[in-house]
Amino acid sequence: MGNGIVQVAAQAGFDVVMLDVTMEAIDRGLATIGKSLDRLIQKGTISDDDKMAVRARIRGTTSYEDFAGVSIAIEAATENLDIKVRILESIDQAVGEHATIATNTSSISITKLAASVRNPIRFIGMHFFNPVPVMGLVELIPGLQTNGLTLDGAKDFVSQIGKTPIVAKNSPGFAVNRILVPMINEAIFALQEGLASAEDIDTGMKLGCNQPIGPLALADLIGLDTLLQVITVFYENFNDPKYRPAPLLQEMVDAGYLGRKSGQGFYAY
Ligand SMILES: NC(=O)c1ccc[n+]([C@@H]2O[C@H](COP(=O)([O-])OP(=O)(O)OC[C@H]3O[C@@H](n4cnc5c(N)ncnc54)[C@H](O)[C@@H]3O)[C@@H](O)[C@H]2O)c1
Repeated sequence: MGNGIVQVAAQAGFDVVMLDVTMEAIDRGLATIGKSLDRLIQKGTISDDDKMAVRARIRGTTSYEDFAGVSIAIEAATENLDIKVRILESIDQAVGEHATIATNTSSISITKLAASVRNPIRFIGMHFFNPVPVMGLVELIPGLQTNGLTLDGAKDFVSQIGKTPIVAKNSPGFAVNRILVPMINEAIFALQEGLASAEDIDTGMKLGCNQPIGPLALADLIGLDTLLQVITVFYENFNDPKYRPAPLLQEMVDAGYLGRKSGQGFYAY
């Protein structure tokens, strides 16, 4: 996700500092960005010169000192509270007092993460979608203390990088995953109950609802373990049986059928 965010910001003309734990990790990120830009060249969207200009605006580092003077810092590290708190504390020390600090977390409370910076009014959730260079949406999630100036600045930034912002409450799944994940879970219930075959459920939702990909094929793409984890978070946080994970989802995860990444999910790969 970090690579994608760096790429779209640099493509929009921002100078970007990309920080990771090692230079090897930075090089992997830069290689991914290079491949993504090459695909845009092949499609005729950008030129070779554009690619060089984008690359020239990206600087890789392992030192937070290089964040001095940035206008916005976006944390997109591993989804782990302790790791994120440590990173946000370091960002808070490194950037100036007027910089916005954002997190790309999918599941951790924005208000909780905001507590790791000294001035939480300038902290906000900025939830990108995968793959970042392709997907047009960014959810903005103010925490309890986020002020209007920070939200307005975040909206401007998201628009400047060519994405459309929507604003959602700090609640599990924010807006999009709150709706999407129970829909996929329901499709798995439908399969489990024998309402229709996997192929017919997906064809039904594609042709009947104009979804670009069926919910079961999408489940395989996301990863069944990730889906199970998210729907379980909803179930436990809202304490509402409408979010109970489909038993078939649990059973498939137990069997190691995790979707595309394991070679077997609702379809074989
Ligand atoms: N994958 C998705 O579809 C998706 C979508 C939206 C949001 N997110 C969120 O984006 C974040 C990143 O997800 P991802 O799938 O890109 O994860 P990932 O595991 O692919 O990448 C995480 C990156 O963070 C780096 N990292 C780990 N510890 C670090 C540290 N202490 N300091 C600096 N860098 C560190 C890793 O080296 C790696 O490059 C998570 O919060 C996730 O919830 C993911």
